[in-house]
Amino acid sequence: MPHENKKLWGGRFGSVSAEITEKLSSSIQYDCRMYRQDIRGSIAHARMLEKMKILSADELKAVTGGLTSIMNEIERGDFPFSESLEDIHMNIESRLTERIGEAGKKLHTARSRNDQVALDVRLYIRDEAKSIREELLGLIETLVKKAEENIDVIMPGYTHMQVAQPVLFAQHMLAYAWQFTRDMRRLDFADDSSSSLPLGCGALAGVNYKNDREFLRNELGFKDIVLNSMDAVSDRDFVLDFLYFSAVMGAHMSRFCEEIVLWSGSDFSFIKLAENLTTGSSIMPQKRNPDLAELIRGKSGRLYGNLFSLLTVLKGIPMTYNRDIQEDKEPLFDSVDTVKLAIEGLTAMVSTMTLNKERMLRGVYSNFSTATDIADYLAQKGVPFRESHAIVGQIVRHCEENGKDFFTLGLDELKPFSPAIEADIAEYIKPESSTERKQSMGSTARAEVERQIAVLKERFGF
Ligand code: ARG
Repeated sequence: MPHENKKLWGGRFGSVSAEITEKLSSSIQYDCRMYRQDIRGSIAHARMLEKMKILSADELKAVTGGLTSIMNEIERGDFPFSESLEDIHMNIESRLTERIGEAGKKLHTARSRNDQVALDVRLYIRDEAKSIREELLGLIETLVKKAEENIDVIMPGYTHMQVAQPVLFAQHMLAYAWQFTRDMRRLDFADDSSSSLPLGCGALAGVNYKNDREFLRNELGFKDIVLNSMDAVSDRDFVLDFLYFSAVMGAHMSRFCEEIVLWSGSDFSFIKLAENLTTGSSIMPQKRNPDLAELIRGKSGRLYGNLFSLLTVLKGIPMTYNRDIQEDKEPLFDSVDTVKLAIEGLTAMVSTMTLNKERMLRGVYSNFSTATDIADYLAQKGVPFRESHAIVGQIVRHCEENGKDFFTLGLDELKPFSPAIEADIAEYIKPESSTERKQSMGSTARAEVERQIAVLKERFGF
């Protein structure tokens, strides 16, 4: 009598699995989080089997009832997960048979774990995309609100981390809001590429039954059906799409957090983070550190890593399903968790941070931020721009050498630089009027900023 192998696939085996086989194969520790998707997929499959007369009406009832009570069991925390049953698919199937007997054993007719897992991962991404979309929407709304509430605040705009020109704080917030709208487009794309049904393709070649994939598509709310059975079980592009969304979103959040760290730091002091979103030092009693921003900045590392990890896993995998593909899950789950956590943290920081308007204004007053405006002032008076640029350069140099700025220079001191300079230059020197002078579409002038706010509100309905 050969050694009995208790696995669902154990029929042809004469011995039990080695411990290392189980340790390496098992994914139940992490793929258990797809239980809802697995059950939803199995119920749709069972309904199709009943239509195909493979399950009787009573058997279908037993299967759906059994699966529903397994769902409750898992949610109550009572489900006996077994590592030797490898994954969530076999854990649930085996438990179903335990509970309802014969009908449970018929469930896997015309299905393979290969099309089953491809289905579950797609359903999982679609579910998560919905909840991440809500969070992302909340972040964009928070930025728009922050911009609106502080529409009068002027701050230095930077290039190369050097003060460049005065901008509205609102324009700066909206620049990030626009980045996040593109992240939403990428998220929607990942959702969309997960919206083709792989179920019904079996292991790789299709199944020996006249199944009804259109019925499955409809039951499970997919937009499309994967039309090639081999593609259906080997494709993980939709996971890559999600990981790419997360990686780029991670880059954006990281950039924003870098600014939050700088702005809340003692040298800038542009903003103050809510106390309960900062942390103290174990040795320096005075400290209030922006750890949340730093952590979110750091999370970009794993978000990039997860994308790279799956790209590497998929490289060189021949058709069709190969077990390497099981390695798609941990990077995916980690990116889902990380992106959600980071959006939540960033939204909390932005919605509660307070602005130090005086510090921001000091930044625009003390760094020749209106030099371009003065060059344009001269250009309007007929001085060719290249020349006016050089003249203002000389004025800046003069100021630096004499410990002055634009505001402490008298007209008599300015006149020698160009005969075109007159008393009305005072208006051009003022940072407060600089932003309003920006006439181009999309500029930092208040009307243009308000236009952006209106467009974003209209687009997202807030
Ligand atoms: N746990 C497996 C995975 O996640 C399910 C598919 C297993 N298929 C197989 N032929 N061994 O990929």
